[in-house]
Amino acid sequence: MYNIIKFDTLPSTNKYLKEHYNQYDEFTVITTDNQTNGKGRMARVWNSTKDDLTFSILLKPNIDSSYISQIPLIMGAAVCRMISKYTKSEIKWPNDIMVNNKKIAGILVEGITSTKVDAIVVGVGINVNSTNFPEDLIIKATSLKNELNKTIDKEKLLNKIIKEFIILYIEFLNGNEKYIDICIENNYLKNKKVYVNNELIEVLDISLNGNLLIKDSSNNIKELYYGEVTLNKVYEE
Ligand code: BTN
Repeated sequence: MYNIIKFDTLPSTNKYLKEHYNQYDEFTVITTDNQTNGKGRMARVWNSTKDDLTFSILLKPNIDSSYISQIPLIMGAAVCRMISKYTKSEIKWPNDIMVNNKKIAGILVEGITSTKVDAIVVGVGINVNSTNFPEDLIIKATSLKNELNKTIDKEKLLNKIIKEFIILYIEFLNGNEKYIDICIENNYLKNKKVYVNNELIEVLDISLNGNLLIKDSSNNIKELYYGEVTLNKVYEE
């Protein structure tokens, strides 16, 4: 059903799949133990070593590009579910996974579109067995090993996540939105105050169409769409 191809080293698994998607089937997974020029959201860098799990999966769906915004939530639901088998994790809308208030995984979805969606690359980076974080990340990031004090088999974790993702993704294509329920149940931002584009807002929920339901600074209830917002910072009282 899926095929995992491992490279010793790659600049970026997302970039590689975007450049070579024509030569691979849907559900091809590209992984590496050494990502040297990885991309995060908002032009951040995401490099990784053999201690981390770094992969991208290729999708070739027949959908309208407006549905691409659901893909990070589907992958977020799959990653959250599988990490929660080890320790409780939550989804920080739209594409981070948190454990104990620290980021453990990030998701970067990139669409290749012409008049239609030609392909979608879903990239995931998970801190699995890394324990040494740079000074500026120590309070913001964690790994499974840091949380559990034991080494995790990352190949097993990869297979579990891919299987779960494919199930949720096929359900989504068939109109079943189970991934939304998982996002709603594990919404890290629920009832938190967050700066969005420098305005302090309160997160109420995730709506059934995958948007963030919020109360703005003038007490208006609104939905925020993926891509529209940058969550600057969770407000701590
Ligand atoms: C983020 O938190 O900003 C998203 C990070 C996404 C990183 C992954 S690692 C695998 C894939 N290849 C990349 O270059 N980026 C994604």
